[in-house]
Amino acid sequence: MKLGVNLDHIATIREMRKTVEPDPVQAAILAELGGADCITVHLREDRRHIKERDVKLLKETIKVPLNLEMSILEDIVEFALNIKPYEATLVPERREEITTEGGLNVIRSKEIIHNVIKKLKEKDIKVNLFIDPEEKQIEASRDIGADGIEIHTGRYANAGGEEKAKELENIKRCATFAEKMGLEVHAGHGLTYLNVQPVASIREIVELHIGHSIISRSIYTGLKEAVREMKDLINEARILHRY
Ligand code: PXP
Repeated sequence: MKLGVNLDHIATIREMRKTVEPDPVQAAILAELGGADCITVHLREDRRHIKERDVKLLKETIKVPLNLEMSILEDIVEFALNIKPYEATLVPERREEITTEGGLNVIRSKEIIHNVIKKLKEKDIKVNLFIDPEEKQIEASRDIGADGIEIHTGRYANAGGEEKAKELENIKRCATFAEKMGLEVHAGHGLTYLNVQPVASIREIVELHIGHSIISRSIYTGLKEAVREMKDLINEARILHRY
């Protein structure tokens, strides 16, 4: 299983002072040394953390694939077409949200998303859609030519007790369903050192994208060690209890 490390919050700290440090490009080197299989950044419409400069430099400097999280806004799509990240994950975006709150409604915006997927794929960019774990959204993603989906794990992360078990079961069911449809299955949002293992043990999920928890731990341990610890948990879950 691959681990994509989301570096948005490195840029968040930089932007609190509108200065040059810490730099997500430097952080990417440490994330790679810790075992990151992919670097993820979200160029938000309001550019509140990651800037065009970061994405350009990351594309030029990192050795692992770059995953660009992006909305379907025209100028963001144009930028992605020029930069050509290895993969793009399309996410919904609302300006007032603190972080991405829900999955894309692929059914409602089928045509617009389909057009964006076509443009990105023409440039050989792999396209994933960030969706809630719902079969109808998975079917719609397949219908409009997505290469894969990223299952929004936020509901699982926020739930407690029996609800958590139900959410996990639902993620598992949707991952199986999506794989059967030929989609590559990723997952992310709200995953932490404490809740990652049950998700990591779902066989059909091949890539996790994790940001906040890793960057938070890195304040104490350093980023290389924080990424290494997350990788170890994922690898352990994969070996011990495949679900
Ligand atoms: N995946 C997507 C699509 C996201 O938008 C985010 C948040 O930027 C993440 C994964 C990572 O979430 P977290 O920071 O909660 O680990």
